[in-house]
Amino acid sequence: MSTKIKRIAVLTSGGDAPGMNAAIRAVVRSCAYHKLECVGVFRGLQGLIEGDFKELGPRSVKNIINRGGTLLKSARSQEFRTKEGREKAYKNLQEAQIDALVVIGGDGSFTGSSIFIEEFDFPIVGLPGTIDNDINGTDYTIGYDTALNTVIEAIDKIRDTANSHNRLFLVEVMGRDAGDIALNAGIGAGAEEILIPEQNLGKERLISSLKRSKKSGKSSSIVVVAEGDQIGKNIFELAEYIRQNLDEYEVKVTVLGHIQRGGSPSCYDRVLASRLGVGAVDALLAGKRDIMIGISHNKIVHVPFSEAIKGENEIDLDLIRVADIISV
Ligand code: F6P
Repeated sequence: MSTKIKRIAVLTSGGDAPGMNAAIRAVVRSCAYHKLECVGVFRGLQGLIEGDFKELGPRSVKNIINRGGTLLKSARSQEFRTKEGREKAYKNLQEAQIDALVVIGGDGSFTGSSIFIEEFDFPIVGLPGTIDNDINGTDYTIGYDTALNTVIEAIDKIRDTANSHNRLFLVEVMGRDAGDIALNAGIGAGAEEILIPEQNLGKERLISSLKRSKKSGKSSSIVVVAEGDQIGKNIFELAEYIRQNLDEYEVKVTVLGHIQRGGSPSCYDRVLASRLGVGAVDALLAGKRDIMIGISHNKIVHVPFSEAIKGENEIDLDLIRVADIISV
């Protein structure tokens, strides 16, 4: 075990996700357990540049395991993308005598962290915190499970009204580049069709499929559309196309938006965040850096940042098959 690390900073960066507070709490308490000092950095990587720091003890994170959002606030820092910004951040870390950093965020935050490690030889480990589940090497990201539950609860409600009026609802869910929320929530909520960025179904096939399901006796329909889906310019344009090519239904659009990022984290997210937070401090004490702490087959794993942020989001083809079969 390295004896060099005495003071660890923690921050949340990028889009907030339910469970981030549970992760912060786990890092802070893990530091206390190992008799290390812990410093909270407000507003993510931007707060690092501005030196927005606060000492955190085990009691300063009381009553937050159940709260959505992030106590430390979050930001998407443009300045951290510049060399000057990162130099300021390093200077602040040195001045505050911080020996290592835990970054809770998504691929943008990990990319910035990795560059920072290379430039300043500074130990950083990351925790995957994003509702999108679009990080390689971890089965789940913090916030994803809660977001899925929020989405299916919303779609269940939409289904009640869709069914009462024989309507077709297009429901947009988050996922700029990733279809994980759409695909899993779509299966969970019994959607007829699920449109994701990783696969372009094509407008014509969508119309024929909706016509087929109407013929087969369905009176209403739910189509889940990921934010980054390629099929139309946007969901409203797609709705217009369907109106013009399908008389069978009245078409409505619901955009779920940021409701998916808020709310009390699910038990799964709280436990995951707690395990990953403890894993982050363990890893730093073991001399690790430039890695993400993830979960694979229910075991904590260390994934190099370069792997975590690599390439395109991969979708489980088996899930697509399941979605097709059960919507017949
Ligand atoms: O990365 C998480 C995410 O929620 C995406 O699904 C979404 O496209 C994006 O953040 C929205 O970001 P913002 O809140 O900055 O508009």
